[in-house]
Amino acid sequence: MKVLAFAASNHSKSINRMLVGYAAVQLQRLNPDVQIEFVDINDYEMPIYSPDRQNADGIHQLAQDFYAKIGDADALIVSFAEYNGFVTAAWKNIYDWMSRIDQKVWQDKPFVLLAASPGRRAGANVLQTQEQTAPFFGMNIKGKYGVGSWSDAWDGDTLVKAEDIEGIEAAVKGLLA
Ligand SMILES: Cc1cc2nc3c(=O)[nH]c(=O)nc-3n(C[C@H](O)[C@H](O)[C@H](O)COP(=O)(O)O)c2cc1C
Repeated sequence: MKVLAFAASNHSKSINRMLVGYAAVQLQRLNPDVQIEFVDINDYEMPIYSPDRQNADGIHQLAQDFYAKIGDADALIVSFAEYNGFVTAAWKNIYDWMSRIDQKVWQDKPFVLLAASPGRRAGANVLQTQEQTAPFFGMNIKGKYGVGSWSDAWDGDTLVKAEDIEGIEAAVKGLLA
């Protein structure tokens, strides 16, 4: 199984990237045959989507490349940073461009939906909006978990709280069921 994994954050010290890395290690521990490809969304930075840009120049090549990467994967693990209750603008721009190829951006691939946040609500808003809109965008959710209070949850290398460790394990197991 080929798994595409990334954080929907453009921050060089992204806690969501740390969480995605942790989740991928747990998935490989459960099934060593799993291959993980990590993507950095900074490699897909494009001009802000506008219909005028699309009409003038077509769909940006980087959006086509990212969409093809999702298509090549058997499953996805994505951790969403929450900015003001929504996904980050950096991710939304890639998403908007890709949605012009096909609204089913996630292409019905089995999907682990994660979030990491310094706050106690554990990215509840961004998880909720992704889950609510999942059917429209082909997000085939097999597991979901939010890690909150990040500075207490992560010791620099790994998750430390039993509830978080169990929550991530249960979420990634959804890809193996
Ligand atoms: C502009 C901005 C808005 C934010 N809004 C929220 C928010 O609504 N909820 C939340 O839990 N954290 C919020 N945060 C804190 C982020 O969750 C925190 O910066 C986190 O590290 C982002 O994830 P990342 O490290 O993977 O980029 C916000 C941070 C920024 C910079």
